[in-house]
Amino acid sequence: MTLSGAQTRELLEAAARVRERAHAPYSNFPVGAAVLDDQGRIHVGCNVENASYPQGTCAETSAIAAMVAGGGKRIRAILVIGEGEGLCTPCGACRQRISEHADDETPVLVAQGDRVRATFTLEQLLPHSFGPENLK
Ligand code: THU
Repeated sequence: MTLSGAQTRELLEAAARVRERAHAPYSNFPVGAAVLDDQGRIHVGCNVENASYPQGTCAETSAIAAMVAGGGKRIRAILVIGEGEGLCTPCGACRQRISEHADDETPVLVAQGDRVRATFTLEQLLPHSFGPENLK
């Protein structure tokens, strides 16, 4: 889908706001994510780390859980925001989690500060993926 400028701004602002709530005392790398669902609603999530490091969760995982809990069925777009020199693209596990609720063409926006630095389709980030259709 094509996102309007207003939708992009809304996603960016929502993700930047929730990033401020991240619990990232171990990595000092707060991340925010915002999902636009099939009903036009926005759900947000931040990374929540844990003293037992592997138990930490990514911002995208939190945002997807919020979407599902809120009754959203499909991800129309997702935006991730984080600092650093490189792009804060979703990790491999999160790409798989996004794909469960999205399509090849679903936009994945990567932002930093007050701007979107890159936009990918999900297929670009997770080609030849394994999904529900493989189980039929
Ligand atoms: N992290 C995310 O939440 N999303 C990403 O897209 C990349 C990484 C988190 C996991 C961990 O809490 C911290 O960032 C450093 O890896």
